[in-house]
Amino acid sequence: MKEIARIFRYATGLNKFIISIAILSLVVSASLLVTPFVIKYATDVIVVIASGQGGDLAQLWPLLAIIGGSSLLVVVLNSINGYLGDILAARLRQQLSERYYQHLLALPQSYYDETETGKIINRLSRAISDISQFINQLANNFLQMLITVGVSIAIMWWYSPWVAVIIGAQIPVYIFLGAQSSKKWTKFQKQHNTLYDKASSRFAEVIGQMKVVKSFNSQQREYASFQRRFGKMVGITYKQSRHWYFYSTLRTACQAVVYTAVYAILFIATAQRAMSIGDMVLLLTLVQQTRMPLQFINFYIDMYQKAVTNSQDYEEVMRTKPDVDTGSKDVDVAGKDIVYDKVSFAYEAKDKRVLQAVSFTIPAGSRVALVGASGGGKSTLANLLMRLYEPQSGAIVIGGVAISDMPLARLRSQIATVFQEAALFSGTIRENIAYGMPWATDEQIQSAAKQANAYEFIMELPKGFDTKVGERGTKLSGGQKQRIAIARAILKDAPILILDEATSALDTRSERAVQEALDRLMQGRTVLIIAHRLSTIAEVDKIITLKRGKVDEIGAPAELAKSGGIYNQLLDLQMGGSSANQKKLKKYDIAV
Ligand SMILES: Nc1ncnc2c1ncn2[C@@H]1O[C@H](COP(=O)(O)OP(=O)(O)OP(=O)(O)O)[C@@H](O)[C@H]1O
Ligand SMILES: [Mg+2]
Repeated sequence: MKEIARIFRYATGLNKFIISIAILSLVVSASLLVTPFVIKYATDVIVVIASGQGGDLAQLWPLLAIIGGSSLLVVVLNSINGYLGDILAARLRQQLSERYYQHLLALPQSYYDETETGKIINRLSRAISDISQFINQLANNFLQMLITVGVSIAIMWWYSPWVAVIIGAQIPVYIFLGAQSSKKWTKFQKQHNTLYDKASSRFAEVIGQMKVVKSFNSQQREYASFQRRFGKMVGITYKQSRHWYFYSTLRTACQAVVYTAVYAILFIATAQRAMSIGDMVLLLTLVQQTRMPLQFINFYIDMYQKAVTNSQDYEEVMRTKPDVDTGSKDVDVAGKDIVYDKVSFAYEAKDKRVLQAVSFTIPAGSRVALVGASGGGKSTLANLLMRLYEPQSGAIVIGGVAISDMPLARLRSQIATVFQEAALFSGTIRENIAYGMPWATDEQIQSAAKQANAYEFIMELPKGFDTKVGERGTKLSGGQKQRIAIARAILKDAPILILDEATSALDTRSERAVQEALDRLMQGRTVLIIAHRLSTIAEVDKIITLKRGKVDEIGAPAELAKSGGIYNQLLDLQMGGSSANQKKLKKYDIAV
C-alpha cells in the first residue's frame, strides 16, 4: 500500500487527468452493463414470439437502438480516454524527468565520482516507462474493472447467490497468488537491472573512449564482457519467466475451473426450470463479462511489480542529499585574501586523508603555485575552493568569511577555472567559449578568443566560431582545447582564478601560445596555479610545496630555490639533465 502511495506521489498535479480518465471509464463500464439486460429482455421477447404466444417484433427496435447507441458511446468515450491517457503519460514522463534532472544537478560531486553515467540514465528510463504504464492502466482499466466486476457480481447475487459467491471468491485467491509470486519476481528483476546497468554503463564508456579501446585492441574483450552480461540477463529472464508463468498458469487454470463450474450450475438450473432462459442468458453474459477483467488481474500484478521495483532506484536517487547550500553571507571576493585554515580532507570518510591540516594564504591579487608529487592533493585543494567537496575539518576563508557560509552559486560565479583536462561540450566553438556567459556578444567572444591566442586557429577552421567541436571537443587538438578553455575563463572575468595546468606536452609553439594566453588571463586576479612547468613556477609570487598531504614549505621562488626542499631539488634535477633526473622530474609531473 505504501508503494502505491509512493507511485502516486510521482503523479501529483496530474489528478485532473487521472480522475477524468477514471470517470470516463466508469461511464464506459456502465454502458457495457446495459447490454446484458437489453439482451435478456430481447431474449424474453423472442422466446414469446418464437413459441407463437403473441408478442410484437416492434418491441425489439428500441432494444436494438439502445445496444447500438451504447456501443457507439463506448467507442467515442474510449477514444477520448486513450487521448487523455497519452497526455497523462507524456506529462508524467516530463514531470519525472524534470524532477530527476533538477535533483541530479544539485547532487554533490561525490555522487558522480561513484555512479556510472549509464546507470543514471537507465534508472530514469526504467522508472518513466513502468510508472506511466502502471498509472495509465490503473486510471484506464482498474476502476472500470472493479465496477464491472462489482456490479456484475451484485446482479448475479440477485439472480443466483451461488454464482456470485463463486465468481467473487476468485479475487482474493488471485491476489494471494500474486503476493506469493511477487517477492521472488522482484529479486530476479533487481538482479536483471543490476546487470543491465553494468552492461550499458560499460557500453557508454567504451563508445566514449573508443580511441583507447582501439589502441589496446580490446574491442573483442569489451564485446565478450557485454555478451556475458547479456547472457546472464537472459539466464535470469528464463528463471523469472518460468516463475511468472507458473503462477499465471495457476491463476488461469483456477479461472477455467471456476467458469466451468458456473456454466454447469446455470445450465442445470435452467434445464430443471429453476431459472428462465432469459435469466440464464443474462447471467451467462454477466459471467462472461467478468472473465476478461479478472484475467487482467494478472497484468495488473505484473505492472505493479514492475512499477514498484523499477522505480526504487529512481527513488533512491531522489533521496540522495543534494549539495548543502545554506550559506547566506554574500561576499565580494575581489581584493580579498584566500586562507586555507587547517584543512583536512578524504574523498570517502573511511579513506586515508588526502590532505592533513593544510594551512596557507593566497594574498589578494597574487599568484600562488602548488607543487607536489602526482596524486599529492593539488587538484583536490582546488576542488575544495570551488566547494565541489567539503573538508572534514578546517575551513577555507575568503575576506574573513568561510566559503561554506557563502551562497554556492555566488561563490562559484566568482571563480574561473581552467581544469587539468580541458572539458568542452559538443556544440560550436562560440557556445563553448560563452558557456559561462551565454548572453555574451560576438565582440566579447572574439576578444576573449584573441586574448586566449585562439582567434587565429578558429578563423582558419571552415566555419570559424560556428565550427562544431564534437563530443567533449574531440575534433580539436589538445592545445586548441586548452585555449578554448582559457577563452571561456577570460570571458567569465572572475576575480579568483584556478589554473590546473595540463601536463600534456604541447609543441613549443602552441606551448608559448598557451602560456601567453595564461599570462593575460592571470592579470589582475588572485590566482591558484597547479603548476607543471618550472618556467611557470619561477614567475609566481609564492610557492607552496606539498608532501604526503601536508604543507612542506612556503616561500618565494628565490627563497625555495636554495632551501633544499622539493622546489630546490626540482631545479637541481633540471640542471643535471641526466635521464635519472628526468625520471624524478616526471614523478612531480614537471615539464621544463
Ligand atoms: N574523486 C575522487 N575520489 C576518490 N579519490 C580521489 C578522487 N580524486 C582524487 N582522488 C585521490 O586523491 C589523491 C589526490 O588527488 P589529486 O587529484 O588532488 O592529486 P594531484 O596532486 O592533483 O595530482 P596530479 O599532479 O597527478 O594531478 C589521489 O591519491 C587520488 O587517488
Ligand atoms: Mg591534479
